[in-house]
Amino acid sequence: MEWPVFVVCLVFNSLAVSAEPAVYKNPIEIYSLHVDCKVTSRFAHTVITSRVVNRANESKEALFEVELPKTAFITDFSMTIDGVSYPGIIKEKKSAQDQYDAAVSRGQSAGLVKSAGRKLEQFHVSVNVAPAAKVNFELIYEELLKRKLGKYELLIKVKPKQLVNHFQIDTHIFEPQGIRFLESQSTFMTNELNDALTKTQGDTKAHISFKPTINQQRKNPGSEETLLDGDFVIRYDVNRSLAAGDVQIVNGYFVHYFAPNQMPAFPKNVIFVIDKSGSMSGKKIQQTREALEKILEDLYPEDHFNLVVFSARVAEWQPVLLKATEENVERAKQYVRTIFAQGGTNINGALLTAMHSLDKATSAEILPEESVSMIMLLTDGQPTVGETDIAKIQENIKGANNGKYFLYCLGFGFDVSYSFLEKMALDNGGIARRIYEDSDAALQLQGFYQEVATPILKGIEMKYPDHVQEITQNTFNVLFDGSEIVVAGKLDNDIEVFPVNIKAQANGFNLTLQKDENVMEKEQVFQDLKYIFGKFTERLWAYLTIQQLLEKSVSAKEQEQKSLEAQALNLSLKFSFVTPLTSMVVTKPDAQEVANKPTEADNESFEDDIPQSGAMMYQLQSSRSRSSKRPASRPHGQPGLSGPPPENPSHHMASPYDYSYGGKHFVPGMRLSSPLRKNANSVRISHPHFIVQLPRGNDAICLEVNGQSQTPLNLLSDPVKGIQVTGKLETRKHFEQFEIVYQKPDVRIDVSTQEIVLHLNGNTALLSWKSNATFPMTGLNIAVEEEKSLSLMGADNISIKISYVRLPERFLGLYITDGANFSEQVTGLLGQFYSNTHFEGKHGDASTIIAQGQRHMSTRQNKKDYRVESSADNLSCWLVKLKL
Ligand SMILES: *[C@@H]1O[C@H](CO)[C@@H](O)[C@H](O)[C@H]1NC(C)=O
Ligand SMILES: *[C@@H]1O[C@H](CO)[C@@H](O)[C@H](O)[C@H]1NC(C)=O
Ligand SMILES: *[C@@H]1O[C@H](CO)[C@@H](O)[C@H](O)[C@H]1NC(C)=O
Ligand SMILES: *[C@@H]1O[C@H](CO)[C@@H](O)[C@H](O)[C@H]1NC(C)=O
Ligand SMILES: *[C@@H]1O[C@H](CO)[C@@H](O)[C@H](O)[C@H]1NC(C)=O
Ligand SMILES: *[C@@H]1O[C@H](CO)[C@@H](O)[C@H](O)[C@H]1NC(C)=O
Ligand SMILES: *[C@@H]1O[C@H](CO)[C@@H](O)[C@H](O)[C@H]1NC(C)=O
Ligand SMILES: *[C@@H]1O[C@H](CO)[C@@H](O)[C@H](O)[C@H]1NC(C)=O
Ligand SMILES: *[C@@H]1O[C@H](CO)[C@@H](O)[C@H](O)[C@H]1NC(C)=O
Repeated sequence: MEWPVFVVCLVFNSLAVSAEPAVYKNPIEIYSLHVDCKVTSRFAHTVITSRVVNRANESKEALFEVELPKTAFITDFSMTIDGVSYPGIIKEKKSAQDQYDAAVSRGQSAGLVKSAGRKLEQFHVSVNVAPAAKVNFELIYEELLKRKLGKYELLIKVKPKQLVNHFQIDTHIFEPQGIRFLESQSTFMTNELNDALTKTQGDTKAHISFKPTINQQRKNPGSEETLLDGDFVIRYDVNRSLAAGDVQIVNGYFVHYFAPNQMPAFPKNVIFVIDKSGSMSGKKIQQTREALEKILEDLYPEDHFNLVVFSARVAEWQPVLLKATEENVERAKQYVRTIFAQGGTNINGALLTAMHSLDKATSAEILPEESVSMIMLLTDGQPTVGETDIAKIQENIKGANNGKYFLYCLGFGFDVSYSFLEKMALDNGGIARRIYEDSDAALQLQGFYQEVATPILKGIEMKYPDHVQEITQNTFNVLFDGSEIVVAGKLDNDIEVFPVNIKAQANGFNLTLQKDENVMEKEQVFQDLKYIFGKFTERLWAYLTIQQLLEKSVSAKEQEQKSLEAQALNLSLKFSFVTPLTSMVVTKPDAQEVANKPTEADNESFEDDIPQSGAMMYQLQSSRSRSSKRPASRPHGQPGLSGPPPENPSHHMASPYDYSYGGKHFVPGMRLSSPLRKNANSVRISHPHFIVQLPRGNDAICLEVNGQSQTPLNLLSDPVKGIQVTGKLETRKHFEQFEIVYQKPDVRIDVSTQEIVLHLNGNTALLSWKSNATFPMTGLNIAVEEEKSLSLMGADNISIKISYVRLPERFLGLYITDGANFSEQVTGLLGQFYSNTHFEGKHGDASTIIAQGQRHMSTRQNKKDYRVESSADNLSCWLVKLKL
């Protein structure tokens, strides 16, 4: 649960007596080992099959050993010994206790699964195999890949310990959103082995296969030792933008993923609470100092921070939170270098001090109004000073915090009580992590910080129609950049349209996204892919529900806890998951053994005397999407209409000199000779570039811009109202990009047919045309209507609308809707028509339009109106052709 999201497929090996180095052939020979991993929309289903034969002339013990991710649930295991099948059976943990006790009393290891390092747990079974007998082992496990720091990670650990005739790892990934990038990496790869690796990648599918021949596996030519020992990692991410997420539907169950790209971050207020008790001395405190220095450097300038260090005494670095200016960060780093370890552990006092510090800063109004406040506790031990009753501390902290600040608890090493830290974190909206004592501990600390460094949304509500049942958690306090929200549930059978709605608070605007999903279309996505793995949404839903129920029960009161556990147990049994509440009983010819899921707290060296309110103890990692990637620097400008601001390219036409010079019928840039000919400039478009609705009657001016320009064109510029619109005319004769800049609020919006990029407070948010969305902010209302239009309603009700037109090819039409209220200083190709415009010498189908003193020849024409969905050229308007 810990680290990067991943799955480990792998593993294995047999091997009985490895003590005889001279033995070339293992008596138990693995002749085939397959790892088959299918990832369907982040849900990974892995099957490991190993076939062994006893080559010896006497009975030997065959060992099947697999390492799988801690985040995975085993769903099945079976053995076939000489044609006789021995399936594993998943039972309630309590009812497997007898078998467990019996196994222990026979001196067998307590359980078939144990924790194996940070990310993995090890499953192992051994059986006696008669001479020449064959055994097939098969293990299946499932996991929802969790996005962390902007990617999913699939770790395939490879360790067969002998040469294997048929060795194969097959990974199929299917991501309907599109695979944005995919990379693989392994610790044991050589040039030879590289030939055994094949990768094919399409838009939505990828297949990675690793199939080394027995000779490729050899350490040296002729050697019986295998090269295969290490990690095989696949990392990928999917396409995303700020649409209403992505929905997958199979068999009446849906899963909804939401992780907007490139959002403006909230400033954060963070207090680092650092344990400097005696037990931290030496390497741990050194690594902590090292990590803190890096973390401090990574604070964003808008963040506020403080440090609380504690042993028996609690000390605040500064009396108030400071802004993370370069100078303050430098001072904090100097202070961090002076932290040394000595004394007891007053966790209660330290956390209360941190909360008080945030309270003070809040009431003194030092902190930005729109921000996220958090406390990061790092400790390596049990409370020994001040309040030492763990239940009391949890109660005190929860009471004092009252939901105001997120609390993240990092337990350094195995002398901490993970259960204590986890409950405290979950009680206060955060999560707990273990930091492993190792040479990379500083990196682990930094890595965790980075996951929560960039809060992008608060108060997220994922809303569905009332008839949607058994929905997983659908409100979230905070979303960090690089992570992902996942919600699953059950649909009503007959529904055709599934409306989804997302509401959240972003930095600077409130966000509403809505989309109507067509159920049949969505189900179609998986229709041809039955081979991938049917019913995945239902199992994903069950997986997620169980994780959330278990997590919720950590903070629940006794009665509620029982009920949550009962529900989780029911689902674990129904869907055959080995969870902390169930066991798998493995039957062998001569005995029964039990596989239980180990927990993060199992391997702690200290005596856990914490009273647990539930019958069982377990720790499951938070399944909430809290992880995140901190970008190398805060997201900045998306390439859009960049380059220097246009120097009023309409200047030839709008210039008063041209006008006075031009005389009555002269319009610079327009061909006087053939004003009435439709194809004067060999441009044949029936959509005009711009439509100016005239205030009286239902009449309009249609504008066509002819010519080419490398630089963006000034379409409209009103210095009084603080609005500027520029556009880029593609050679295809349509506008495909607009840039709209407002002075109040200070917002720039780059619009293209691909996406809409909002630049706000030095940040960017990437919006999509694919959902309805609204972003109200003070002084400007932004709304997207799915694949139809973008509306910008600014001050004085000046409202600019951009139509998304699909035919004849994708382009954008821009117009000003009713209520245009520009100043007299408005200029630009389009803008000039919004002040002092009148007709002169109208006769029949021809007229002169005078805009800001500038004369334009005009004829009556029928055009397509991109403001309505219409296939007919039925907009009758005054056409003005503007030549560049
Ligand atoms: C089994 O094989 C070993 C050598 O591999 C041999 O010494 C022994 O006699 C054999 N036993 C039987 C019963 O064949
Ligand atoms: C179990 O704890 C010990 C220290 O108590 C540690 O050295 C070891 O790595 C841990 N094992 C696992 C699998 O976490
Ligand atoms: C994903 O993004 C890539 C690159 O932008 C694009 O080529 C691909 O078509 C997209 N896939 C889907 C399914 O949208
Ligand atoms: C967002 O909504 C909240 C309440 O729903 C409101 O208090 C706040 O002012 C809104 N923010 C903006 C930028 O519109
Ligand atoms: C999107 O907005 C339009 C206009 O407000 C509305 O007609 C349509 O139903 C909306 N679609 C969804 C999915 O809410
Ligand atoms: C568990 O399942 C049983 C039968 O399948 C049912 O009677 C019981 O109400 C369920 N309990 C919960 C808490 O869902
Ligand atoms: C137009 O602008 C003027 C001056 O800024 C303002 O008084 C008036 O209310 C505005 N009219 C509309 C329709 O927004
Ligand atoms: C803007 O329009 C709304 C209704 O569309 C109206 O209530 C409001 O008074 C207008 N504001 C100005 C400044 O004209
Ligand atoms: C043009 O036709 C469309 C339907 O094709 C209709 O919605 C629109 O009102 C028509 N416009 C006029 C001016 O008749």
